[in-house]
Amino acid sequence: MKKIIIAIDGPAGSGKSTTARLAAERLGYIYIDTGAMYRAVTLAWLKQNEVFSEDVICNLLDNIKIELKQSEYGQRTYLNGEDVSDEIRSIEVTKNVSPVSAIGCVREKLVDMQRELGRNGGVVMDGRDIGTVVFPNADLKIFLIASVDARAMRRTLELKGKGTFESVEEIKKQIIERDLYDSSRDISPLKQAEDAIEIDTSNLTIEVQTEKVVGFALEILSK
Ligand code: CDP
Repeated sequence: MKKIIIAIDGPAGSGKSTTARLAAERLGYIYIDTGAMYRAVTLAWLKQNEVFSEDVICNLLDNIKIELKQSEYGQRTYLNGEDVSDEIRSIEVTKNVSPVSAIGCVREKLVDMQRELGRNGGVVMDGRDIGTVVFPNADLKIFLIASVDARAMRRTLELKGKGTFESVEEIKKQIIERDLYDSSRDISPLKQAEDAIEIDTSNLTIEVQTEKVVGFALEILSK
């Protein structure tokens, strides 16, 4: 059976990761969370305790190894052989990830890795520029949106579940700042591809939004 490429893009907290992971599970596809790769580079820079500069970060890139491994709990992210899947979700990484992701050498290296990972199809990849830059010819492009209040509430509850307590207002502020940064950067900004299907998840359950994505995929596969 043909194996397609599914690109899921959208702003922070729009439900991309969960939807992408569950849709991949349903289809027997690989799920690739590209945000985790940008987060891993950011963590590597934070660990280095160096100033923020393109040169520092481009040099660092040549000396680190990022790997994505599939486990029964979804994707695990490794930095230089160490499982950093939890560490990359810290508030500190989240606060610094957008400026690191806006650097040209970072995008070049990670986009190359992402294209390689999706080369044979059978992937659901989520991020900000998957449908526009990484796989402009993806078979199915989804753009998830949701109100900023819904996104802030989801993220606050997600963090609480992991033992991090932040107010909804603070999270909302961070989300607005990050969206602005991601959508106004020069290289590969967050934007909806013209041929993407937009789904507003503000009032949808994870099950319903996953069902929609799987439905679109099955329709394409049946042609
Ligand atoms: O899950 P959440 O929406 O909080 O973010 P993420 O998907 O983990 O992505 C974290 C950050 O990485 C984003 O805010 C972007 O700055 C960057 N990113 C990107 O530039 N391009 C991608 N394809 C994926 C993430």
